[in-house]
Amino acid sequence: MKSAKIIGLGKYLPPKILTNFDLEKMVDTSDEWITTRTGIKERHLAHKNEGASVLAFEASKIAIKNAGIKPADLDLIIVATITPDNQFPSTACHLQNFLKAKKAACFDVSAACAGFIYALTAAWQFIKGGLYKNALVVGSEVMSSITDWSDRSTCVLFGDGAGAVVLTDCPAKEGILSAYLGSDGAEAEMLIVPAGGSRMVATKETVEKKLHTIKMKGNELFKVAVRVMVDAAQKALDGAGLSQKEVSILIPHQANERIINAVAARLEVPANRIYVNIARYGNMSSASTVVALCEAWEEGRIRKDDIVLLDAFGAGLVWGSCAIRWA
Ligand SMILES: CC(C)(COP(=O)(O)OP(=O)(O)OC[C@H]1O[C@@H](n2cnc3c(N)ncnc32)[C@H](O)[C@@H]1OP(=O)(O)O)[C@@H](O)C(=O)NCCC(=O)NCCS
Repeated sequence: MKSAKIIGLGKYLPPKILTNFDLEKMVDTSDEWITTRTGIKERHLAHKNEGASVLAFEASKIAIKNAGIKPADLDLIIVATITPDNQFPSTACHLQNFLKAKKAACFDVSAACAGFIYALTAAWQFIKGGLYKNALVVGSEVMSSITDWSDRSTCVLFGDGAGAVVLTDCPAKEGILSAYLGSDGAEAEMLIVPAGGSRMVATKETVEKKLHTIKMKGNELFKVAVRVMVDAAQKALDGAGLSQKEVSILIPHQANERIINAVAARLEVPANRIYVNIARYGNMSSASTVVALCEAWEEGRIRKDDIVLLDAFGAGLVWGSCAIRWA
């Protein structure tokens, strides 16, 4: 039996930055409120009409270069996104075209903020099963394209960005050790973009009512988030036969610093073993976990044989965790 290991990482944050002080001029909010309630200080914004594929391309070029392979070596490209360039074709197909990765099979994964962990798990299984050798897994989001910039309860939370990893096959018990994925569709209304799909097609009225933007019950989500992230992390650790004490670094989804701290406290992971970058980027949905993983690696906080635990939740609801022995 094989497994899959990460051999290259990359990230891309569009250069434009929107600070909390900029937001103070747009809605009735304050840097103090945003910082104390969320931990966010600023977020990056893509240019208008700069698709998720463009951000994905920039992150992927770096990951592929770091992996020491060529785009033509890729057998599989999976892009996790809830802000795809188009309803179809997939953002992964656009990315394949930019990369000229002609051999790769391409598809998108829609699992919101847990999207990268879902996509990573899917790619791991394709490699483990022997169908493919090299896979590119990307989380890329232009959250600004679905943000209601007049709604202070959501517009302060999100940001744009992309992260990418290259996976290749390796012996079992190396690289990805286990994954746990969960969902609860009964709670779909907690976080949703109501219009623009087949259930509520886009019309002049839906656009006027801003129903193509994020609607969220933040308070309710907060409580669920902590519970499901702790549960997912424990199940992923159990699957790998590991205890919390063996976690070298916890890389959580970056939705709210208070959620991260509550999860870490319940898992009994000390602050010096958690990676947090929410202050600079806000919540980038599927890109958050992979950008955090990439930065932790860039900063030398992940070394060979470390146990890395990814953990995320998001709209769906969905949640997931993945334990990796760094190769
Ligand atoms: C959204 C979130 C930061 C709100 O924090 P909170 O402490 O729960 O705040 P509340 O929703 O209780 O709102 C408290 C007050 O702040 C106000 N408020 C909301 N947004 C505000 C803002 N940007 N600036 C100032 N005040 C704001 C509310 O109107 C409310 O006022 P009221 O008491 O007069 O009604 C928090 O609930 C959260 O992070 N939830 C999880 C969201 C999430 O993770 N989403 C992504 C999933 S992947």
